[in-house]
Amino acid sequence: MSYFNADIQKRAAQLLSLYPRRRSAMLPLLHLAQEQDGYLSEAGIEEVATMTGTTPADVRGTAAFYDMFHLEPVGQYVVGVCTNIACLIAGGEELLEHASKKLGCAVGGTSSDGMFTLEETECLADCNIAPCVQVNHRYVRTTTPDSFDAMIGEIREGKRTDEIPPHGTLIRVRRDGGLRTNEPEVVEARATTLKARDARVAKEQK
Ligand code: FES
Repeated sequence: MSYFNADIQKRAAQLLSLYPRRRSAMLPLLHLAQEQDGYLSEAGIEEVATMTGTTPADVRGTAAFYDMFHLEPVGQYVVGVCTNIACLIAGGEELLEHASKKLGCAVGGTSSDGMFTLEETECLADCNIAPCVQVNHRYVRTTTPDSFDAMIGEIREGKRTDEIPPHGTLIRVRRDGGLRTNEPEVVEARATTLKARDARVAKEQK
């Protein structure tokens, strides 16, 4: 029985069908695991390992390389404040310090109500609206302490849920076009690829 809920399980199966090799689907599957739990739980990692034919250590090692994956529980909203050069000059460090006071947690920590985790980030590619702030990887464009406080208040009041989904949700609009797959065709292509690889390996070993 899968650890994933029915929706995530269905989307994971669709994703797997896109890749000739199961382990190539590891990163998108990790995003699904994170969407379900809000972070990468041990059970989620084990499920991805099973689906990709790898080990939990493989999966954890891969996930640890990427900033967007969290191996520990985080708040429902992950707030990132950029302190890279353009944002630093525009007051990024001061805004980060303000955010820490406002949320009542250190950088890297989570607010006592479990709602917000605060992170210091590298360049978020929105240098012209500095200092740049993201919440769950959505640009919120709050560049001053006052606008930051207003944004946090709106999130607490549930006024930003259309704009900012819970942590882990990469997209809310599902693809229904370019990446549609015909599963029998993918299975056939996968078999052809493996056959060709086996033939090549056999030839090399002669
Ligand atoms: S330096 Fe902060 S978004 Fe680029």
